[in-house]
Amino acid sequence: MTTAPAAPAPYWSDGQVTLYHGDMREILPALGITADAVVTDPPFGETALAWDRWPDGWPTIAAAAARSMWCFGSMRMFLARHGEFEAAGWRMSQDIVWEKHNGSGFAADRFKRVHEHALHWYRGDWSGVHHNTPRIPGEYDPKGRTRGRRRPDRADHAGQIAAIDYVDDGLRLARSVQYHRSVRRGLHPTEKPVPLLLPLITYACPPGGTVLDPFAGSGSTLDAARQSGRRAIGVEANEAYCEAIASRLAQGALDIPA
Ligand SMILES: C[S@@+](CC[C@H](N)C(=O)[O-])C[C@H]1O[C@@H](n2cnc3c(N)ncnc32)[C@H](O)[C@@H]1O
Repeated sequence: MTTAPAAPAPYWSDGQVTLYHGDMREILPALGITADAVVTDPPFGETALAWDRWPDGWPTIAAAAARSMWCFGSMRMFLARHGEFEAAGWRMSQDIVWEKHNGSGFAADRFKRVHEHALHWYRGDWSGVHHNTPRIPGEYDPKGRTRGRRRPDRADHAGQIAAIDYVDDGLRLARSVQYHRSVRRGLHPTEKPVPLLLPLITYACPPGGTVLDPFAGSGSTLDAARQSGRRAIGVEANEAYCEAIASRLAQGALDIPA
């Protein structure tokens, strides 16, 4: 008689966030989980860092776990890999740009690179995919950027266009360019700031739903998911980062950029 292989044991869990240590290409098929959304930042395969190797086949494995995915990456990475996303059944809905306060890369023959992309992908019928665009108060503020302002004494404005009544509540759709300071002296060399991740999570995952990050790094996505009232599942291949994630989440650490 043959017995089914045991499901991988969590590395750490608090009931809301569960972290697994290992290669996502082995862990996710063994778990057979489904999530509301993948929110992830894979190795782009663009640096000499030991972990920065593109795991062949990962978009297909992610597609088996969710119908919606935010994926960070560079334009170079997405141009080189878009066939793998499409072969896995992913269709792109939109892209956002993270504008950083400082840049990476020191090539003197290029513009200083101060941004990254996050692309939203979905599978199947768009109407069946949860999407809730954040609306923020006020107008575009070129200094505060994501911090829209609205005078507190201003009442909602109501009016009529043709036969349609409307109420302008002062809220505006969040912009596709998001300015957030990079994380300095964080747990991981490519750590994403929690304030950048929060709107992506609330866009793609309903309250109480589950976010999956198969390349967890410092645990920033898991932390952001927990802060926004979602459950989270993370996978990380490097045990030192698993340890850092476990202590970050055990402390309830907030990610406050330097
Ligand atoms: C770009 S980093 C993620 C950084 C993360 N978003 C953060 O904010 O800290 C990618 C991570 O994926 C991990 N990784 C690489 N290959 C993996 C694999 N096959 N399975 C799981 N994790 C992997 C690396 O160790 C690295 O920590």
